[in-house]
Amino acid sequence: MELQQLESKISDALKKIEHPTYKQSLGELNMLGGLEEDGDAIKLHIKTPDPDRKIQIALEAQIRGFITKLDLPKKVKIKFSVDETLKPEDIGNRIRGVKNIIVIGSGKGGVGKSTVSANLAAAMAAKGLKVGLLDADIYGPSIGKMFGLSGKQPLFGDGQRKVEPPMAHGVKVISFSFLLNPDQAVIWRGPMLGKAVEQFLYEIIWGELDYLLIDLPPGTGDVQLSLAQLVDLDGAIIVTTPQNVAIQDATRAVAMFQEVKIPILGIIENMSEFVCPHCGKSSHIFSKNGGPAFAAKYRVPFLGDLPLMTEIMESGEEGTPFAIQKESPVQKSYNEIIDRIGVEVERYR
Ligand SMILES: Nc1ncnc2c1ncn2[C@@H]1O[C@H](COP(=O)(O)OP(=O)(O)OP(=O)(O)O)[C@@H](O)[C@H]1O
Ligand SMILES: [Mg+2]
Repeated sequence: MELQQLESKISDALKKIEHPTYKQSLGELNMLGGLEEDGDAIKLHIKTPDPDRKIQIALEAQIRGFITKLDLPKKVKIKFSVDETLKPEDIGNRIRGVKNIIVIGSGKGGVGKSTVSANLAAAMAAKGLKVGLLDADIYGPSIGKMFGLSGKQPLFGDGQRKVEPPMAHGVKVISFSFLLNPDQAVIWRGPMLGKAVEQFLYEIIWGELDYLLIDLPPGTGDVQLSLAQLVDLDGAIIVTTPQNVAIQDATRAVAMFQEVKIPILGIIENMSEFVCPHCGKSSHIFSKNGGPAFAAKYRVPFLGDLPLMTEIMESGEEGTPFAIQKESPVQKSYNEIIDRIGVEVERYR
């Protein structure tokens, strides 16, 4: 094998080995220093951002494992040299390239978290923002359908460790439903659940994003807590309906986010009023003003309200969020909500 050919093989291999400290591949970190003939051996230069010998030894073992498989006629010597310029900027518990990570939650189920997440994400993309949407509801994933991405999706890797998310309406979407057959039951619990969520955060090619929205399952359980530990969340949005029961559950959601120190960007009241599909008149079928009163009580911003409309429900079945279907008061409301979110995330920066 020619030296050049070998170099390209090793370069490919380095893309598949992850640096334990920086959570990037050796390829991404540019650690390949080059190859040279060295008497009857080959010398492989590996540049390393930190001088830790233990890490070097572990990495060397992984590189050797790969080289052994090539069955080369010559011996390969691996030489590490420290190059601190390769050290990536410390971004803590963040996803590289993603500016804001926002979770969308509620205490109660069925208040429209997924519908709001889908419409919000699509409306953001229509405004020119770069958006990703992660459906973290592993028990009842519904985001896929709302984007017309039903059931199991063919997911393509980049030849390294990461997976490209499917894109619909300008939004990069990932959902547990893409991995499962429609009638497959999910039995993940505790640690497994955390691992699955972690993979969705860090092993997806999100690229550069203004917003990564995370649609949470209902309640205040495992997923919420593992997320808060896995990644620095920039804020939470709480969706509620106006009636008292939903508001009580929203109180629990507020308490949970405050406990894990995630800034609450605000409240969105969904199904505020019913718009009659026949006459177009609106009526408050639930009590009026629950959301704004709630926001005032907990001193969190009120981001906006959204009506209950047959078309919104139908759009969730069709696969194109209503907020981007046509110009409408709903579209306007979403755009205002997006502006308010923009103001809030800046406040906490
Ligand atoms: N503003 C709305 N107008 C009409 N229908 C709506 C509206 N918001 C949500 N829905 C409908 O209500 C149902 C529940 O909404 P959705 O699935 O978004 O709630 P959720 O809070 O995500 O539920 P879960 O807690 O199960 O995840 C869906 O059928 C959806 O289409
Ligand atoms: Mg949902």
